[in-house]
Amino acid sequence: MQTSIHNRHFLLRRLHSLFGLLPVGGFLIFHLWENSQSRFGKTHYNEQVVGWLQSINYLTLVEIFFIALPLLFHAVYGLVILYGSQGNWNRYPWLHNRFYWLQRLSGIGILLFLLLHVGWTRILGIWQPDIRIDLFSHMQELLINPYLFLLYLSGLLLAVFHLCNGLWTMAISWGLTTSVEAQRIWFYFCMLLALLLGAMGLHGMLGFLP
Ligand code: HEM
Repeated sequence: MQTSIHNRHFLLRRLHSLFGLLPVGGFLIFHLWENSQSRFGKTHYNEQVVGWLQSINYLTLVEIFFIALPLLFHAVYGLVILYGSQGNWNRYPWLHNRFYWLQRLSGIGILLFLLLHVGWTRILGIWQPDIRIDLFSHMQELLINPYLFLLYLSGLLLAVFHLCNGLWTMAISWGLTTSVEAQRIWFYFCMLLALLLGAMGLHGMLGFLP
């Protein structure tokens, strides 16, 4: 009985980990690239990028099965992991213990941010189709407000940190980085990736401003 609960938890944890990378992490990177195209102007963004995406057949099904459901699973099971998390922020003052907790806190931050972000773009777009036609102007209206700009910047940084620190922990839990040296090198790589993705995200946000 105990073994079967243990096996189920092990399997769910692996699934949680896998979904964090693919498709959720993959989608995050694609999404940041997509928004970096705002730099090339409203027509390019609305017609070549968003217009092309919206023309994909069965888009809603792709969004539900390849983005929403894996993200929902990752978020719900992430909350289960968070609830069972043990440890102490202060007792072990080293960096990876702090990052262990920041991984969990950033998960909650991302969840709240995504509810707002998806509400303001995808859900609102169902009632106001103009938003879907001219997403560039809609994002511009939001980001021109300094408070909303800061909110989006926080959402971006939390998501990038969460993905990149997650890549670091993932390599340990999947047995890919077993030595201290391998973990150290992989850590530098993950933090470099965080810098690059953060820069790409900020670059895209600035592209919406007039
Ligand atoms: C942009 C959205 C997200 C991405 C790209 C993402 C990605 C990842 C990745 C790659 C990992 C590492 C998995 C591992 O260590 O094996 C991870 C871990 C984690 N995620 Fe997410 N995640 C996202 C959203 C969320 C949300 C909304 C929550 C909900 C609170 C959450 C909670 C967690 C938790 C608690 C962990 C740590 C698991 C552990 O240490 O075993 N994540 N995430």
